[in-house]
Amino acid sequence: MKDFLIAPSILSADFARLGEDTVKALEAGGDVVHFDVMDNHYVPNLTIGPNVCQSLHKFLQEKGINKPIDVHLMVMPVDSLIPQFAEAGATYITFHPEATLHVDRTLQLIKSHGCKAGLVFTPTTPLSYLDYVMDKLDVILLMSINPGFGGQTFIPATLDKLRQVRQRIDESGYDIRLEIDGGVKVENIGEIAAAGADMFVAGSAIFGSPDYRGVIDNMRKELAK
Ligand code: DX5
Ligand code: ZN
Repeated sequence: MKDFLIAPSILSADFARLGEDTVKALEAGGDVVHFDVMDNHYVPNLTIGPNVCQSLHKFLQEKGINKPIDVHLMVMPVDSLIPQFAEAGATYITFHPEATLHVDRTLQLIKSHGCKAGLVFTPTTPLSYLDYVMDKLDVILLMSINPGFGGQTFIPATLDKLRQVRQRIDESGYDIRLEIDGGVKVENIGEIAAAGADMFVAGSAIFGSPDYRGVIDNMRKELAK
């Protein structure tokens, strides 16, 4: 079977018990912590920053959990936060190309801090942003909702975009993850995987259920089909 990663988005976790709730999702089978950073400027919502990432990272280490933290920056400007998130334990740092003036520089900044780098595409961001940077990408994140909130419905046009990006990755020969974020559920994860994704963010689908393990197991069953 392909190496699929399931990334619970802690945007839908209980923020009053963030550490415990994150551990619960990871012990239930989550592979990666998806950490959504929103600034009420690039997106109309406000969430958590580097000090929460640092505390969460420390908490996970104390529990002996070494799973990656995937920081999804929905902020403008981007660059000033990168050293802080690298220091706070981020493994992946992704950003929206519209939110920075010099995309290549921001990618280099992430790499220079020892993190994996990625670009995020909203449903209408053109794929031409990929043109000159494929060699600098560890992950490409396609959003299948408009950024800002959990619990929205998957936008079907993203499936075609996924297929296009899958083809570009395969043709490039680079080892790049294809991540999908927004409206991912047990019911649609199979067709999303068939379109080429290999890393699946799921917030409300996991944290909105009383049975995290049941949801993640069912997602894996769909991925194994
Ligand atoms: C929204 C965030 C998502 C969000 C997804 O801007 O980037 O990661 O948590 O939530 P669901 O899985 O509920 O669509
Ligand atoms: Zn996200």
